[in-house]
Amino acid sequence: MQIKLAKSYGFCFGVKRAIKIAENTKDASTVGPLIHNNEEINRLQNNFNVNTLKDENEIEGVKRAIIRTHGITKNGLFTLEKSGAEIINATCPFVTKPQKICQKMSEEGYDVIIFGDKNHPEVKSVQSYAKNGAKVVLSVEDLKELKLGKKIAIVSQTTRKIEEFIKLTAYLVRNFKEVRVFNTICNATFENQDAAKELAIEADVMIIIGGKNSSNTKQLFSISKECCNDSFLIENEKELKKEWFENKKLCGITAGASTPDWIIEKVIGKISKIKV
Ligand code: F3S
Repeated sequence: MQIKLAKSYGFCFGVKRAIKIAENTKDASTVGPLIHNNEEINRLQNNFNVNTLKDENEIEGVKRAIIRTHGITKNGLFTLEKSGAEIINATCPFVTKPQKICQKMSEEGYDVIIFGDKNHPEVKSVQSYAKNGAKVVLSVEDLKELKLGKKIAIVSQTTRKIEEFIKLTAYLVRNFKEVRVFNTICNATFENQDAAKELAIEADVMIIIGGKNSSNTKQLFSISKECCNDSFLIENEKELKKEWFENKKLCGITAGASTPDWIIEKVIGKISKIKV
């Protein structure tokens, strides 16, 4: 069986940057998991004494606090500042951008809409910057239920699918006179998603490596599954099952934006030893 990696996969710019910041800071606590990958979080803890707090309410006694890639809510930031801890900001610049847009647009009187998962920390952080609260939607149906004013601004969670975002913006443009659209989906997501699709079309089996709590990994899985029914999401090589590869000629591999290379290498190593 041939093994082929997607043209673009794995760590994105924001995650690489956050890990570097954590490694350089050492002896610190991140407010929530730095990235959505448990194995990498454990490595940072064991090698650099970077621990994970559940949230900002556990800040007491912490000397150095690292804000994770997904950012923090305005209130959360306030709590950190009050605690007197040194604050190191590892928020991805692609997340800072929609935060700023939300703040500015709401101050200018726009009803702000965020396309994304309302329970995701990134969305919560972006939402907190809207002056009078932003509305979070996942579908055109959600949009139809909202009471909106005349001026509307829309941003997207960085890891959503562009096709879905276009559906929402098309609905808004058709139904409202003034709509400001900010495409805040990040390039890393575009590139990894396009590459996953291209590979899934030709592969007989697809392995998607990443945290099961990682939004962009789940997106890669769903894109892959659309083109290759035998798609499997795993966090590490221990989850591989021999039967997935029986009678398969081409195994495609991709990985989420928070999956480190060392995990990907272990998975490839194990698959290449499987006899089919
Ligand atoms: Fe940032 Fe995009 Fe990665 S938002 S953390 S570069 S997936």
